Amino acid sequence: MSQTQALWWASESFWRKTAIWVTAGSFVVLIFLTFDTVDQITAGSKANRVKAYSVINNRIDYVFDEKRNFQVPVIGPEEPLFGKKLTEEEAMALVSHGKLTTQAKNCMNCHTLLGNGAYYAPDLTKSWLDPAWGSKETREETMVDFLMNPQDRLHNALGRKMPNLGITEAEARATVAFLKWMSAIDTNGFPTNFKPIDQSDPAPVPAPVPVAEPAAAADPAVAAPAQQ
Ligand code: HEC
Repeated sequence: MSQTQALWWASESFWRKTAIWVTAGSFVVLIFLTFDTVDQITAGSKANRVKAYSVINNRIDYVFDEKRNFQVPVIGPEEPLFGKKLTEEEAMALVSHGKLTTQAKNCMNCHTLLGNGAYYAPDLTKSWLDPAWGSKETREETMVDFLMNPQDRLHNALGRKMPNLGITEAEARATVAFLKWMSAIDTNGFPTNFKPIDQSDPAPVPAPVPVAEPAAAADPAVAAPAQQ
């Protein structure tokens, strides 16, 4: 017997078996991870990380979560986009049209979406929540107007202007739906330190306090208290 045959870890069969087991083990882990990932990235799935398309019927906010130690999207009360509540199918068609528009016009040439793309222009992940849109009441129309005529709208003082990409009104509205839907994705806190637009409802106007009739006016002591 030679010296090499005596060393078990140097034997060819040991490494052949190891290779087979490692390959088979990795295969099982990969299958598990594939199913897990599909759930994490599918709209409306159990993982709830990417919301169903009909989330555009609701207010979306971005608030600090003490437990996770970063900001997370919070789905609020019903606030339909453009004031029209959509079914899941209608919402999906609109958001898809918006997504196709961002691909056809190559927004990623300048912007990042979910952190992917170019760094010439701001990240669009939470653009729906950008305070630069003014107020939540005017935001939707301001966004449509901006997307159709960005060349003469200096928007958030970046000092760069977006060129006119020939976006139609239908495409602009669909893009706004896509941006609203995207802002509801749980991105593990990305982008950090982002201050969302104030979307709280205005404080209710207090009911007028009825003014008491000066019924006692006839009594001079009450109407004009004696001077000291
Ligand atoms: C040639 C580069 C370029 C391309 C392509 C481009 N943008 Fe822009 N975009 C900009 C710049 C620059 C700004 C910043 C303008 C400003 O602040 O005045 C901007 C701003 C924006 C904003 C405002 C962001 C915010 O939250 O303040 C939105 C929304 C936006 N772009 C959407 C899009 C979409 C959607 C597309 C594709 C359809 C697109 N952009 C393609 C350059 C580009």
